[in-house]
Amino acid sequence: METLADLVIHNGTVVSAEATFEASIAIKDGAILAVGAAEAMPAARETLDATGLHLLPGAIDDHVHFRDPGYPQKEDFASGTVAAAFGGVTTVFDMPNTIPAVDDAETLAAKHAMAAEKAHVDFGLYAVLGENSITRVNELVEGGVIGFKLYMGNTFGRIPSPSTGATLEAFEEVAPTGKRISLHAETNSIMERREARLREIGRTKPLAHLAARPEVVAVEAVARAAILAEWTGARIHVLHISSAAELRPLREAKERGVDITGETCPHYLMLSSDDYARCGGIIRVNPPVREKHNQEPLWAALLDGTIDVIATDHAPHSVEEKTRRDIWTVDCGFSGVETQMPLMLTEVARGRASICDYVRWSAVNPAKLWGLYPRKGILQPGADADIAIVDLRRRWTIRDAETHSTAKISPWDGWEVQGLPLHTIVRGKFVVRDRILQIGTRGWGQSVHAIQEMPTPVPRNVDQTMKAITATERPSLRAAV
Ligand code: DOR
Ligand code: ZN
Repeated sequence: METLADLVIHNGTVVSAEATFEASIAIKDGAILAVGAAEAMPAARETLDATGLHLLPGAIDDHVHFRDPGYPQKEDFASGTVAAAFGGVTTVFDMPNTIPAVDDAETLAAKHAMAAEKAHVDFGLYAVLGENSITRVNELVEGGVIGFKLYMGNTFGRIPSPSTGATLEAFEEVAPTGKRISLHAETNSIMERREARLREIGRTKPLAHLAARPEVVAVEAVARAAILAEWTGARIHVLHISSAAELRPLREAKERGVDITGETCPHYLMLSSDDYARCGGIIRVNPPVREKHNQEPLWAALLDGTIDVIATDHAPHSVEEKTRRDIWTVDCGFSGVETQMPLMLTEVARGRASICDYVRWSAVNPAKLWGLYPRKGILQPGADADIAIVDLRRRWTIRDAETHSTAKISPWDGWEVQGLPLHTIVRGKFVVRDRILQIGTRGWGQSVHAIQEMPTPVPRNVDQTMKAITATERPSLRAAV
């Protein structure tokens, strides 16, 4: 008996990291069954005509803050994942700075249950790697974390940053698990000191935020983290790279063979210190949006592979929280999960990068570095049918009021873009179709930790870890030294 597909998408242009090609895609039981000529497709329950549209692997945003539980005025897992779906994003990794912060197995299990009930797209959950959770690494891995988040500097939620000593020990603990550690790479002591002095002298305007966190804050943190990762063999991912200066320690570490990857976000590529006057406190984000001269090197680093991933640091806050007069009281961050794809596609339309480059940064590379490839990140037989169907010619204007995040305030309001995700499919199911949220998609999203398969861990200097030097199994040896 001939197989009957659930859905066949005809006449679209399929995009991979290497090429674009005309093809049809057949989907069955949530997975891609076939990619090829229309006449080679099996019969289907349903067909979609994608003439003139591009079929992209759904974006994997490895850096979002959906605020659940803890801050319903900003976002929850339902609104955040709906916003993701409208932005062509089919998998998100949610950060642990919720209330309570995710740093033990019990909290993680509760968050998994909550997210499984509300999510419209697939998700992974991070746990905090800090002084309190060093001893809980294994229970968190067993509980299904996608990876760890280590705050080298304070930001929203004020998760304390571990000392360098504790960071080394934390890396030692995670290295043998093979999980990747995402870093908020800003050195706390530098920026706290500068912020205190700026406040003392009464600076309260938006640009004071940038003055408190100059590039060196990030550069020092990236370089130090790379040294600790090299020593321990821990895998690290530098989140939200904001400056040209960070690229040197990142490149050098890659050249030394450190398993280090990097990410940047649309706001560092497209906004600059010139936008502070227009946006006011809305632009306040950590790390800060910097001087314009950083933009070109960041683009070049994406193109040459120094930076691997485009993510958003989707960090929603309410209008009231973003419009306070004193910059030090404005909450840091803004929504982005829904606008990343249109913003980046606009740059593709301008010739800044190819559509294949974009797919590499938004889907292929995140899938690879988080152990989800080739289940996700590519449209080929056997892969999950996670597809963003996009009209690359459509010109439109971003309006915060029309976005699906609870937090309707961002620096992108009024921004002219070209490229619109029309339909978003998650494991074969339309979550958004013709720009309409489909009923019955709440709770469709699944945690991806079950399919995550990281390469074999490569811990280093294992005889010198905190665990090794304090081991009590060999009392006679200990007595001798
Ligand atoms: O500006 C930011 N906001 N940067 C971060 O790293 C955290 C985020 C948040 O959670 O609001
Ligand atoms: Zn973040």
